[in-house]
Amino acid sequence: MCQLTQKEKVLLRIIVDTITSCNMIETIDIEINKSPVSRLSSVDFNNLSFGHVFSDHMFVADYTDDEWKNFQIIPYGGLLFSPAISALHYGQAIFEGIKAYRQKEDRIAIFRPMKNLERLNISAERMCMPAVPQEVFMQGLTQLIDLDRKWAPSAVGQSLYIRPVMFATDTILGVNASKNYKFVILTGPVAAYYSKNLKVKVELHYSRADEGGVGYAKTAGNYARALYPTKLAEQEGFDQLIWTDSREHAYIEEAGTANVMFVINDVLITPSTRDTILDGVSRHTILDLARAWGMQVEERRVSVDEVIQAIKKGTLQEAFAAGTAATIAPISVIGHKYDLYTLPDPQARVFSNKALKALSDIRYGLAPDQFGWNYLI
Ligand SMILES: Cc1ncc(COP(=O)(O)O)c(C=O)c1O
Repeated sequence: MCQLTQKEKVLLRIIVDTITSCNMIETIDIEINKSPVSRLSSVDFNNLSFGHVFSDHMFVADYTDDEWKNFQIIPYGGLLFSPAISALHYGQAIFEGIKAYRQKEDRIAIFRPMKNLERLNISAERMCMPAVPQEVFMQGLTQLIDLDRKWAPSAVGQSLYIRPVMFATDTILGVNASKNYKFVILTGPVAAYYSKNLKVKVELHYSRADEGGVGYAKTAGNYARALYPTKLAEQEGFDQLIWTDSREHAYIEEAGTANVMFVINDVLITPSTRDTILDGVSRHTILDLARAWGMQVEERRVSVDEVIQAIKKGTLQEAFAAGTAATIAPISVIGHKYDLYTLPDPQARVFSNKALKALSDIRYGLAPDQFGWNYLI
């Protein structure tokens, strides 16, 4: 497959997609304007952090006159906008986070991109934005990654982070759903988002999302409203927050910018999704793995009290944040009211270490992809 030309690879993928989904998928015409020089040699892959480095190119598309058009791959760089664009004033901005991994024989595996497309379009609907069609998302993504494939790192723990983002570009002041949008895909090599075990505080005053609100959408404002309470927690020496429901602050919802999971009495427990919780791809993936291994899984409301009681009784074995950026980030300390609880040693945790290794092996092509999670290009 790696000896095919870029266009042949995309065509092959489209044929495979068409056969598997029995849908006719259109081919879009992407104009490619290559960067005259690559910045790749200036990147220190031994010292990668998260989100600071961008690959040479980006995919851009416009939504105007009720359709997506102007598909282009262009050198990564600034775009020119009026300060009146409505995304800046009224917040119509949504995004996604995906990772791709370099496998042997120059294969790149994108991890479950269709799940992110599904969620992007759920966010779009809630924010009165247009859906991104599968052919635009997947062909933009695969052609971009193919062009910048050298940017995908191969070291375990590193990956190519992919950030699709859509925002409103109407230049009219007035609170209305915009008629014009831009869709952009950026990529860049990253290391893990969290480089240490997490000390988290159970947030009992502020909230990330409210019932009837937009917590289940991956929209920019959700992250903006989380900044202040997170800053306060950091000032108290915590790395992140455990968000609780906004009504009673009695039920656990998420951990910072990730979903949260606990192992109590050998049962994997995680808050069930609702309109205040982002339905994470990692969450689905980890639950699928646990079920396949015969572990008991519970998706339900999880009270703060039950978690604190389990810590006190010694029945809480593991707690971790689960997300694309966070991967599986162990929680080592939980702060609740005036108490700090130290959890069991992250290195000795059975389930999360096994899941992290299994996922890593699937992503880097070191173990069979029995769930069909890798989208190979
Ligand atoms: C608020 C929030 N919850 C959960 C997640 C985890 O989602 P995923 O596993 O799809 O990355 C994220 C990831 O970005 C997030 O921002």
